Amino acid sequence: MKFLVKNCFLDKEKTDCIIIGLFDSCKLSISANYLDKCSGGYITSLLKLGDIKGEVGETIMLYNVPRIFSKRILLVGLGKESKVTRSILKEIFKNIIKKLKKTSVKNIICSFSEIDINSENNIYWLIRSITLFIHEYLYRITKINHVLKKNIHFNAIILNILKENELFIAKKSLKHALAINTGIVSTKNINNLPPNICNPLYLSYKAKKLSKKYPENVIVEVINMEQMKKLGMNAYVSVGDGSKNKPFMSVIKYSGNNNTSNDKTIVLIGKGLTFDSGGISIKPALNMHEMKYDMSGAAAVYGVIIMVAELKLPLTIIGVLAGCENMPGSNSFRPGDVLTTMSGKTVEVLNTDAEGRLVLCDVLTYVERFSPNVVIDIATLTGACVIALGESVSGFFTNNEYLANEFKKSSKETDDKIWRLPLFSEYQKQISSSIADFSNVGNGKAGAITAACFLSNFAKKYNWAHLDIAGTAWKSGTDKGATGRPVELLCQFLLNQLNNIY
Ligand code: BES
Ligand code: MN
Ligand code: ZN
Repeated sequence: MKFLVKNCFLDKEKTDCIIIGLFDSCKLSISANYLDKCSGGYITSLLKLGDIKGEVGETIMLYNVPRIFSKRILLVGLGKESKVTRSILKEIFKNIIKKLKKTSVKNIICSFSEIDINSENNIYWLIRSITLFIHEYLYRITKINHVLKKNIHFNAIILNILKENELFIAKKSLKHALAINTGIVSTKNINNLPPNICNPLYLSYKAKKLSKKYPENVIVEVINMEQMKKLGMNAYVSVGDGSKNKPFMSVIKYSGNNNTSNDKTIVLIGKGLTFDSGGISIKPALNMHEMKYDMSGAAAVYGVIIMVAELKLPLTIIGVLAGCENMPGSNSFRPGDVLTTMSGKTVEVLNTDAEGRLVLCDVLTYVERFSPNVVIDIATLTGACVIALGESVSGFFTNNEYLANEFKKSSKETDDKIWRLPLFSEYQKQISSSIADFSNVGNGKAGAITAACFLSNFAKKYNWAHLDIAGTAWKSGTDKGATGRPVELLCQFLLNQLNNIY
C-alpha cells in the first residue's frame, strides 16, 4: 500500500475514488466545491434531495459524476467546520474505511487538506493523522497457522495538497507517519501473539533481529538469568525463576548518525511479562488470558526503537525489554520472601502478583550504567490504574517538571491521553515494611500511586517518568487486541526533543 502527497487536478485524475468533505448544513469544502463546479453543479443539485447534511458519520457514494474522470466520489460528512479535531477526524475515517471495505476500490485520492484540525502546523498534523488512521482501521490480527484471504488494503492512496507550498511539510509529515505506523504495527503484532509463542526468549530473538535489520545504528545485548544473578538482580530473577521459560533482558542500543543531541542518553524500559499468572498469589481464571498483554510496555519500546531506526533520528536511545514470565511452581518465589535488589535495598514480598515493580526496580538500577539523561518506564503495572483512569487514559508519573511538560505537550499533540498522578511522600508509608526496606504492595488504596512510589525509590539518580498503561494498551471484547499505545506519544516526545530539526 503506497501513500503519496501530491497537488492534483482533481477532475482529471483517473482513479477509483476521490474522497471529499461536506461540512454541516451542506457547506461544501473547497475540494467539493471545485468538483461541483467542474460537474456543472451536480453535487449541489444532489444535496437538495436531503440525503446528506454534512454530519459526522454520514457518507454517500456518487458514481459517474459528469465531467469527472474518477469512477467514484465519496462525499463525507465532516460536522461543524470550526469544530473538526483530530479525534473527530478519526471518527470520520472509521466511517470512510468501513464504507470502502465494502467496495472494490483500490486507488484513492483523499482531498482533505482544507480541513483545519490544528491552527499551527495544520498540514503536518492532518497528513500524519490521516495516514495513521487509515492504517489503524485496516489493521487485522494475523491468525496463527491459518491461511487467510489477503488483508484488505489499497494499492495507492494519494493525499491531495491544495497549496503547492505546503507539499514540503506534507512530505515530511508522511515520512514521520509511515515510520510511526511501522512502529505501531510492530508493537501490535508482537503484543497480540499468544504467550506460548511469545515468551521471554522469543522477545530477545526479536530484539536481536533489530541489529540485523539496522546494522549501522542498532546493537543488542541479551542478558540471561545467570548474568542477572551475577549482577545482583535478585528481584527480577525471583519473579522469572518459577517458570520453565526463563527471563531474558534485551538491551537495545540505538545511536543515530550525526548525533546533534550532545549524546544525551534516553532510556526506555518496557515491562515484558509475556504472561502474568500472578504466581503463587494466583489470579482468578476469568480474563487471566489477557495477561499475555502484560508485555505491552516491552512491545511499545520495541515499536518505538523501530520508528527511531526507520527515521534514523540523531538521538542516543537505550531500549530495554524486561522479558519475564510469572508462574506458580515449586521453584517460584513466595509471599513472605525477602529479596535483596540490585540496588542493595530489600523488599518483603507480600503478593507475588505485584511482580512488575520487582522486575522494573532492578532494571531501573541496571540502567544507571548508561548515565542516562532521561529514563522512561512503560508498564501494564496496576489494575488500580484502570480503576482510577479507565481505558482511555494512561497514568503518568514523574520526578521532573520538564518531563511533565514535554509529555503533556506530546499527549495533546497525539491525542494519546495521559494524566499525571502524584508521588507525595504520604504514599511511601503504605509500602513500608517491618523487616525490609519496602514491601511490594500497599494497603489496597491508591494502588497505581503506591506502585509508582515503589519504583521512584529506584529512580533517584536521574530524571524519570513512568507510564502505567494497564488500561490503554489493549482492548477486550469484540474488537479485542493490542492498541499500539503509547507508541505515538513516545515517538512524539522523541521528535520534540529534536526541536523540529527533523
Ligand atoms: N499486570 C498486572 C496489572 C494489571 C491487571 C494490568 C489487570 C491490567 C489489568 C500486575 O502485575 C498486577 O497483577 N498488579 C496487581 C497488584 C496488586 C497485587 C497490588 C493488581 O493490580 O491487582
Ligand atoms: Mn501481576
Ligand atoms: Zn503484571
